[in-house]
Formats: sequence, C-alpha cells, structure tokens
Amino acid sequence: MAAVEPSAAQKATTGKMALGEVAYFRGSFVPLAEASVSLATHALNYGTGCFEGIRAYWNGDHRQLYVVKLAQHYERLVRSCRVLRIDPGLTVESMVEVTLELLRRNGFRQDAYIRPLAFKGGLTLKLALTGVEDAFGIYCLPMGEYLDTGRGLHACVSSWFRLDDNALPPRAKVTGAYINASLASDEAQINGFDEAIMLTPDGHVAEGSSCNLFMVRDGVVITSPLTDGILEGITREVILGLARDLGYPVLERSIDRTELYVCDELFFCGTGVQVAPVTRVDHRPVNDGLPGPVTIRIQQAYFDAVRGREPRYRDWLTPVYPCG
Ligand SMILES: Cc1ncc(COP(=O)(O)O)c(C=O)c1O
Repeated sequence: MAAVEPSAAQKATTGKMALGEVAYFRGSFVPLAEASVSLATHALNYGTGCFEGIRAYWNGDHRQLYVVKLAQHYERLVRSCRVLRIDPGLTVESMVEVTLELLRRNGFRQDAYIRPLAFKGGLTLKLALTGVEDAFGIYCLPMGEYLDTGRGLHACVSSWFRLDDNALPPRAKVTGAYINASLASDEAQINGFDEAIMLTPDGHVAEGSSCNLFMVRDGVVITSPLTDGILEGITREVILGLARDLGYPVLERSIDRTELYVCDELFFCGTGVQVAPVTRVDHRPVNDGLPGPVTIRIQQAYFDAVRGREPRYRDWLTPVYPCG
C-alpha cells in the first residue's frame, strides 16, 4: 500500500480528484464537462437529489474490472427516489447496462468509483417535490482507498446528532442529508480524528459520517439496527453474511456510546471506506489499540470477495469487459 498517496477524501477536499472523461447525462454519453446544470436547478438550491456510491475493483490476473453489488445499489437508489418522488427514468436493468457501458467508455483498468445521481432537475423556486422535472446522470473516477484500511483509525463521537427519520430520513441516500455528514466529518478532521461516529437524538450509536459501524464483544459481531438512524448499507449486509459464513454469531441491536469504549473490536464498513478497523475512540484505545483478529479476518474475506478472488462470492460481482 502506498502510504504517501493522498486518500480520495483528501483529494476531494484539495480539488485534485481526477474524474473519468465520459459521463452519462440526461440519456446520452457526453464529455464530463458537458454534464452540467443551471444555477437555478432545484436540487442545487434545495438538496433534492438521491445518489449512490458504487465501487469496481480491477483484478489483474483476470484482466477484468468487477463492479460490486451493482443491481443492489440501483435498487436502493430507486427506494431513495421513492422518498423524494423522483423518477430516474430508467429501470434498474437499464441503469446497470448504462453503468457497464460508461466504465467501458472510460476504459478503466484500475479500481474505480461510480456516482449515479437522480435529482430534481427542474428550474424552479417551488418548495415541492411533485411537479418538478427529474434528471439522472452518472460520473465515475479512478479511486483507491477513501480511508486508511491498514493502520487503524481514530474516531470521535460527533457533537452533531445523526438525522432523525422524521426530519431527513437517513434511510434514503439524499444529497441534502450529507450536510449532516459533512458537518460531522469536517469537525472530526479539524479536531485531528479520521472519522466521526454519530449518535441518534436519543443517544444510541448510529453510524460513521459515510459508513456503517460494527463492534465485536465476546466474539459476537454486532451492528446497529436499521431503525437507529442509519443508511441501509449494502456492505453492512454483506459483512453480516461474511461474519456468519466465518462462524461468528451476529446481532443487530442498539449500541450505547460507552460500548464504543469497552468493546473488543470496532470497524467501519461501506462502499467507500471498505472495511476499516477503528483502534481508538475519543482518545481511548479500543482493547489493546490494534486492529482485532475478527476484524482482520472479515476484512481479508471482504477484499478477496470484491476482487473476484473468492468463487463463493462471485455472484456479488458484475464483470465490465466481455471476456475476463
Ligand atoms: C451515511 C452512510 N452510511 C453508510 C454507508 C455505507 O453504505 P454502503 O455499504 O451501501 O456503501 C454510506 C455509504 O454509502 C453512507 O453514506
């Protein structure tokens, strides 16, 4: 792992992110520079968009790029769109096909990240969802690690609460909701932490600013339930399955803040962060302050699966190129 390579999060904040040249926008493949919107766009003014983050992994031995859980991401996009009354204008099957074609047109032969966006593209001041024109686009970029997955991260409990379902539902991956995530993540980074852990307004552990959270206690792999202010993470679901397959008991239950300080192991998971051990919380070491054995096993199994090295999980992956 190249330690000197800045993370995608750092590149994004310094504006040095290299983007794929071709985008898909309003029904056509276009140069990325042409995939732009008016200043008067509803989604730009009010945050009325739904998005996804999807990863593709390059396997040099197979000469193949594998997209992870592609249809599942678009199924979630459709569910998010239902909350915001957005019609992306394409079926899940069509979005899958367009994504594969977009990756081929960009010619990626390296790890990549795909960002589909369905949004209120109408030019109106109207504070409404119904009757506002919808738009859909996708761009992509080469991307390695977002957060460091090797050294163990230092997380803080954020002073910002996770959004409440009755205010701005975290279940839907809505662009405007990422103000909440950005406030927490910015605060964490400025204070010298790698990532924030957000609590629900009633004080339970929800998730990281852009990832779900797992804790290990007495050999049990535990994560917050879907009703504790979290995004219904696709990686979370995958990790629950992997942990079961590895023989660990799993549990979805509410987590108290102080369990973060007394648990045996802690790790973040998500498409962007992948599986990243958390070794300190609020300046307290998690157990002995090193990535734990359960986390390491799960992380290894995850990387083997997403890179296409584990035949058992090959059905998670969609190959981009015709003959691998
Ligand atoms: C707030 C939040 N929680 C959790 C996740 C992890 O979700 P997934 O595993 O589907 O990428 C993400 C990333 O998409 C996120 O933004």
